[in-house]
Order: sequence, then structure tokens, then C-alpha cells
Amino acid sequence: MTVKQDIEDLKQTIHKHDHQYYVKNYPLISDQEYDALLRRLRELETAHPEYVSPDSPTQRVGGKVDERFKAVVHPVPMLSLDNTYNVDEVRVFHQRVLRGLPDVPEGSIEYVVELKFDGLAVALTYEDGLLVRGATRGDGLQGEDITVNLRTLRSIPLKIDTTQRLEVRGEVYMPKKEFERINAERKAQGEAPFANPRNAAAGALRLLDPAITAQRKLDIFIYAVGFLDNNPFKTHYELQGQLDALRFPINQYNRLCENFESALALIEEFREKRKELDYEVDGLVIQLNSLAHRKQLGETSKFPRWAVAYKYEAEQAVTQIMDIVCQVGRTGSITPVAELQPVLISGSTVSRATLHNEDEINRKDIRIGDRVVIEKAGEIIPKVIRVIEPCRDRGQPFKMPTVCPKCQSSVYRAEGEVVWRCVNSACPAQLKERLKHFSCRKAMDIDHFGPAVIEQLVDSGRVKNFSDLYTLKMDEVASLERMADKSAQNLISAIEKSKSAGLSRFLHALGVRHIGQRTAILLARRFRTLKILQETSYDDLEKIDEIGPVIAESLKAFFDRDTNRQEIERLLELGILMEEQGDAPERGGLFEGRQFVLTGTLTRFTREEAKEKIQSLGGRVTSTISKKTDYLVAGASAGSKLEKARQLDIPVLNEEALQKLMENG
Ligand code: IVH
Repeated sequence: MTVKQDIEDLKQTIHKHDHQYYVKNYPLISDQEYDALLRRLRELETAHPEYVSPDSPTQRVGGKVDERFKAVVHPVPMLSLDNTYNVDEVRVFHQRVLRGLPDVPEGSIEYVVELKFDGLAVALTYEDGLLVRGATRGDGLQGEDITVNLRTLRSIPLKIDTTQRLEVRGEVYMPKKEFERINAERKAQGEAPFANPRNAAAGALRLLDPAITAQRKLDIFIYAVGFLDNNPFKTHYELQGQLDALRFPINQYNRLCENFESALALIEEFREKRKELDYEVDGLVIQLNSLAHRKQLGETSKFPRWAVAYKYEAEQAVTQIMDIVCQVGRTGSITPVAELQPVLISGSTVSRATLHNEDEINRKDIRIGDRVVIEKAGEIIPKVIRVIEPCRDRGQPFKMPTVCPKCQSSVYRAEGEVVWRCVNSACPAQLKERLKHFSCRKAMDIDHFGPAVIEQLVDSGRVKNFSDLYTLKMDEVASLERMADKSAQNLISAIEKSKSAGLSRFLHALGVRHIGQRTAILLARRFRTLKILQETSYDDLEKIDEIGPVIAESLKAFFDRDTNRQEIERLLELGILMEEQGDAPERGGLFEGRQFVLTGTLTRFTREEAKEKIQSLGGRVTSTISKKTDYLVAGASAGSKLEKARQLDIPVLNEEALQKLMENG
């Protein structure tokens, strides 16, 4: 036998045992025997590096990410599920399904019920049997390329036995045991523990070094197919059988239900059972089995109409309020927060809960020393629900502070608002929050700029505004407490790098009221430079479809303030890019004045690429078909848009035709 063949056989064998161990929980050989196989493979590969291939089990960890993960456009959007919280709401869903399938007798409607795992959705793409890409869900349309990190999950096959192009979707999670282990470790090292397994998993997936991700023992359940070339299957359940045969990790509790009532029965069955599992389950997914029925019902822009999530009640716990403190947010808002006797709730320790605002506290009459019910629902911060036992020697009702608890400036409550705010825009507490926002991932994305650093820089008076960040010198940063030279260098480079983040991130980072990430992107794409935006009148801004009076007003008020204008001027001098990069649409381009709609799965380019290309030729891409649409570009499994285009007699192009049109007009 040749060495090459030897290596191939070993790879196959190890893959099979990985599957037995990590997916089936049923190892067929001892750890020693397994290690021996792996060692043998390593030896052969070391002697014959020409035969090392990316699908080898020795190659799970490799290739660091430099700075930021690349954006990935999902060829088929990753939707989310509509939530229901009681059986009646699930019945309403079923009635809607029946109405949407008038020709189907109720008796022949099958459902598949699955656990709803509380982790992070990802998509894995296979081409020619090899895992070529792994991406986060992101906003559903666009995620991040985290292939190097996903490859480290031992239950994800690097190679599968099919050449069909396939994208599977699943939920990455951190087992509860692993979560506890990591948190114990973090505490021992004086680091802040993760709030829950989901956050811990999210953190591990976004590490720039896959070797560390590999140590975090993440796992995954595959629950759906994004796309599959020439899909021969008629039902979801069959499709999952195929995924199982391809050795993907499929959850053992997936159930095929012959009718709706038996699907409902599972809600009760899993209410308690789920708590015994080694992963967090926050509900069930109830979905139609027939793929034809799914297609008939279709999707809204957010949810499929053929599936629904049933969420179990949020977990509650009883504890005592030790103190009520007030936090100051980046807009000066003052939020009362309860400090609690620490208590365990849905697997994590909770020691603070929000009390929202003064009115809420008074309505519930919450006072220090009271025993209260707190609740934690999903990712939301725990909240205090009600008092169950007032403190024996009760103090006075809670009163909001009459001055800012951090800077002692006066506070005000605007008419019609429930929140109190600190008037002082230089309030150090506000500034710290503004800096956190400025540097966060979706804004300027400055790594290594954590709360401890911000704390010191603001308290010492060194940083009074955003621009001060950009004048920081290496020795100043290195002299901060608990800052190693290497970290200081990393921070300085991260700050430097953020200068070229571009206009949309910068606009979002400024923290102008009502300008979130979406609006910032919209403004940046439309105006291209900050200067043009600044010079645009209120009337012109207000007229724009997605802008309107509130945003226009807020922008104008922001730019009208001298301090803001001066700060922007300074940032510009320091080299912060205030333009949006990317191709501006060509005037008089080939597609000038033409409107396109894209639908279905494109294969020659990603949707974003197609869009950019069309735009660069002067065309417009919109999301809904109307009489104004000039062309529909339809990829595989195009649905309702294709039908609508046909009804309206709008020319339909496949990708080939689009490409020809781009090249030849
Ligand atoms: S099916 C069209 N099945 O829940 C979406 N999703 O709220 C079909 N999730 O983003 C999703 N367990 O991250 C499905 N067994 C399961 C799931 C599951 C967890 C998550 C998933 C999705 C979110 C939807």
C-alpha cells in the first residue's frame, strides 16, 4: 500500500472514530488506541508533507485571523423564528398553517418538533465534500467568516461523502459542564466570569486565535439545510436522516409527529426534561415536515410561516435587595439598579437586576431589604418582578438622587419622559459609556480597549473626548495599571487602525441620538462624506424615505453645537477617515435608471457581489417587485417573487443572463 493510501485510510478511520466519540457518544476504541492512530497519521504527514490536506484531523487548528473577521453574505437569508409563549398561541399558529394550506386535509399535516438550543446560529458550506466556509448568522443577511474557529469543533466533519454543494445550519453551544469549568478557571485568575453559556460560546467563536477556541470545547447541533444542489428529499425529517448519514451531529430528541396534537404534547414532555440536559434549551421548534407545504406557505422577511418557536417561561428566583444604586448611561440617563444577594438562575449567578426607572420602583413599591422575585428571560438583563416579602423594618420609599450620583451636576426629567438625566455632558460616567460605545465592535471596533483602561484614562483626566484617544502615546498606555507592553502595543495599533473604519462606523460611534448602526450605514452610503452630510439642510434630510423629521432634527442639533463641530474638526486633523469607501455608482453606466430585484440562491456571485456590481453600473437593487422593476434576477429555489414577476410580465434573468447583460449590455 502506498503512503498516500495509508494516510487516506487513517484519515477515514479517525473521522469515523471522531463521529462515534463526539457525535454518537459511543466510542468503539479506547483513548489510547485513538491517540495511537492520530500519532501514526502525524508521523506519516511529517515525513510526507506533500500529502497533508485541509480535511486531515491533524489540521483542525490552523491559520490565525489577522484583525477582523471577513463579512459573508448568506446566499439564502438566515431567518429567525416567531416566538410563542403558551399553547394557545401555538394553536393560533396551527390555524394559520391550515388556512395557508386549504387543499391539504388536516390529518395529513405532519410536524417535526425539535429542541430549541440556546446558542449561536452558524452556517457551514461544503463544496466537493470539503468544509469550505463557516459563518455566523450576523443580522441574517450577512455574517462573519469564522471558518478557522468552527473547524476546531470536533463534531463538525471537515469532509463529507457527497459532492453536492451543501450548506447546513446549526446552533453552536457550550456544554453546561464546560461553562462551569471555564468560569471557575476565570474566577481563579481574577477574570470576570461569563454570564451564561451562550455568551461564553459567542466569545470563544470570535477569538482571533483558533488554538484558544479549540480549548473551549464548543459543540454543535445541525438542524437545517440552507441549500442543497438537486435536493431529492420531500420532507425535513428525511433530509435530517441524510444529514445524520453524512455524520453531522443531529439531536437525538428530534421527533416526527403525525399530527398537531402530538406535537403539542411534547411541550409538556420537555418542560422538565430539558433541565437535565448538558446544554441550555430555551424552548421547542415546531415545524412542518413537508418541504412542499413549507414552500406553499413561504416566509415573511423575518420568519418562515411554516415554523414557530415555543419558549418556556423565563426562570425566576427569589432573593433580597441589598442596595439600590444608580448608573449613568452615555446619554446621561440615570438608571436605578438593584444589588442583590447573589442567586443562581437558569445556570448563572445573578447579583444585579435593573429596576428600569423611578415610576416602576414606585409602582411596585420596591425598597432596600425587600425579598423580591427576579426573572431572567433569554439575553435580557434580569429584572425585578415584584416584592414578595417587604423588609421588616422598612426604610423610606426609594427616591431618585437630586444630583448626578457620579458628578454631582443637576439632573432633569424631560416632559413626557420617565428617565432622569445628568445635564453635564462632560460627566465622567457618561464619558466612559460614550467611549465604550465609540470603541465597540459595531462602531470603531477598537480591540483591547476594555473598561479598566477606559476607567483609568478618564479618571486621570487624560481622555476627555474621542479625539484624545488618538493622541495617546505608547509610554502613556504602557504605564497604565495592569498593562503589559505587548497589550499596550496592541491597543495603540488598534486605535491607529480604527482611523480608517469609514464613515458609517464613525457616524454610529459618535452616538448621536436616534442614529443607530442601520441609519449610520444608510447615511454613509447616501452622502459618502461627513462634509456633505453636515452641509445638507434639514429639509433635504427630512425628505429622505428612511430618515424623517426625528433623525433629521437630531442630526442638525448635533452638528449645530460648537463643541461637536470642533471635536469633528480635531478628529479630521488627527486622520480619522470621514468618507465611505467602496465604489460610487457610475454616472451614465450601463444600468443607469434600471431597477433590479434579486431572489433565490445565486451561485456565480454572492448576493452582495451581484448587488455591488449592478450598482457600480448605475443600476438600483430593491427588495420588492413592483411595476417599476425592470428585471428580476432569479437563482435556485426562487419563490413568491418569481411568481409575482411573471404576473407583472417583468423579464426574469438567470445568473448567466445577468452576466451577459453586464458584459454586453
Ligand atoms: S430552525 C428559519 N431549529 O433559533 C429558522 N432553529 O429563533 C429556522 N435555534 O436563529 C431555524 N435551535 O439560532 C431551528 N432546533 C432548532 C433550533 C433553532 C435553536 C435557533 C436558531 C435560530 C433561532 C430562531
